[in-house]
Amino acid sequence: AEYGMIKVETRGKVGLVTLDRPAALNALCDQLMTELGQALKGFDADPAVGAIVLTGSEKAFAAGADIKEMKDRSFPAVHFEDFIGNKWETVLTIKKPVIAAVAGFALGGGCELAMMCDLIIAGENAKFGQPEIKLGIIPGAGGTQRLIRAVGKSKAMDLILTGRMMDAAEAERANLVTRVVPVESLLEEAVKMAGVMASYSLPSVAMAKEAVNAAYEMTLREGVRFERRLFHSLFATEDQKEGMSAFAEKRKPDFRNA
Ligand code: HXC
Repeated sequence: AEYGMIKVETRGKVGLVTLDRPAALNALCDQLMTELGQALKGFDADPAVGAIVLTGSEKAFAAGADIKEMKDRSFPAVHFEDFIGNKWETVLTIKKPVIAAVAGFALGGGCELAMMCDLIIAGENAKFGQPEIKLGIIPGAGGTQRLIRAVGKSKAMDLILTGRMMDAAEAERANLVTRVVPVESLLEEAVKMAGVMASYSLPSVAMAKEAVNAAYEMTLREGVRFERRLFHSLFATEDQKEGMSAFAEKRKPDFRNA
């Protein structure tokens, strides 16, 4: 497919989506989000791809939803359209792991998009924030809900009520990101990490991320029960037999995603 605001390529078994709207610091307008959704769905359906990396430029992952596109919208318009709705949440429906590789600004909807991914790896120059309060609004793509789960109440309140930016070191201390790396090696590190995930049996990888993500939405008892059902179901796969036989026979497994 041909896209105007993103770039899409594969590196080995890793699908790479690069947000590419430099003139607006990758502001997430309607067209960009439509293209991103199509690209993510495309990779999810592609048997040659095992994991996905979502990144931006060295200057910006994404500076938020497109303020100029939103500024004249009315309450009934945004309400009845359910802005931001399904289009923004496509990433939540993807079964393969999605890694956000964040350099530069990840603000507002950009920070929320990164948090909707399965994990975030940051470049040293990354800056995270929810500056919506400065515009007379609040986060609208899950920021108030996901940030508190990642960094706890005090820091979530601090960021959301002051609108200040948090640098990569603070984001790592606060557990928003798994790792901080030099900007030059960010993409390489993210692709390497995704490549490790893509080397395993896809059914197990998909179920593992589904189970971890379910913890956001369930009680401990329900979550453990959900995990147990998925765990048992993997004994119906050929890859479970292969993985365990390979261990017993001291050889490398040959996973077939079956
Ligand atoms: C539209 C944006 C934009 C945005 C930057 N631009 N962010 N356009 N929407 N969110 C545009 C600028 O208007 C400018 O265009 C060009 O990108 C470069 O930006 P500058 O401001 O000149 O760059 P700089 O001085 O380096 O400052 C970078 C910045 C600043 C600190 C990131 O751009 C900024 O504060 N951006 C807005 C951040 C923000 O408030 N995000 C939250 C949005 S609300 P021109 O044409 O002038 O060169 C949101 C709600 C989500 O995300 C809710 C769910 C949908």
